[in-house]
Amino acid sequence: MLTVENLSFAYGTVGILRDINMQMQTGRVTCVIGRNGVGKTTLLKNIIGLLKSSGGTVRLDEKDISSLPANKRARAGLGFVPQGRQIFPKLTVEENLRVGLEARNDRQKNIPDEIYTLFPVLKEMTKRRGGDLSGGQQQQLSIGRALVGNPKVLVLDEPTEGIQPNIIQQIGHVLRDLVESRDVTVILVEQYLDFVREFGHDFYIMDRGQVIESGETQQLTEEMVQAHLSV
Ligand SMILES: Nc1ncnc2c1ncn2[C@@H]1O[C@H](COP(=O)(O)OP(=O)(O)O)[C@@H](O)[C@H]1O
Ligand SMILES: [Mg+2]
Repeated sequence: MLTVENLSFAYGTVGILRDINMQMQTGRVTCVIGRNGVGKTTLLKNIIGLLKSSGGTVRLDEKDISSLPANKRARAGLGFVPQGRQIFPKLTVEENLRVGLEARNDRQKNIPDEIYTLFPVLKEMTKRRGGDLSGGQQQQLSIGRALVGNPKVLVLDEPTEGIQPNIIQQIGHVLRDLVESRDVTVILVEQYLDFVREFGHDFYIMDRGQVIESGETQQLTEEMVQAHLSV
């Protein structure tokens, strides 16, 4: 489980996040939604330690990880799939996946077979350069790279952005499989509400740096969507 308590963040003097409180349960997919620019990516970067919070606490299970830098949070069990995928275009698929081994605590030197079971297309393309993959394949690679680190908590920033529908479905099923059979916690920023409703369990809506609604995804109403999400 991942818990965020009274988290705040500012760029210089400009406050971006204010008093965020969230609980992301093990075995569930938690979706963070909200319009562009409300602070979703900033929140994820505070959770994984790429940005330093100005106040508040991030807990992994009971452990306070707020003072750990990003690499130690990765070792503690946080995996990150950034917005825009951020794979290494000149490295091969296999080399991209190897980067994920850095986040492991054991000395494992090989890419676990389960990555290729979850994303068979990566197996066919191990020697292909990351930059030559389609957008959907790059997204699978980016998720695969995070999973190589064997995370307890997988944090994804808009994984369906610019991806074709059949791969979106596949990604959704992989995430559900991770929470249902491997006890992973999934936290996902998502603009695509059909995906939230189909694959998410819980939601938080953000507006201007704050959480303004939360609940289970089946309680996400048209009124909330109109008020806080439609442009
Ligand atoms: N490096 C930065 N310096 C200053 N302000 C930034 C920086 N990056 C993002 N912001 C601002 O922080 C706010 C939240 O951005 P972001 O977290 O990317 O929103 P979202 O992911 O919800 O679209 C926006 O108003 C954005 O302009
Ligand atoms: Mg964003």
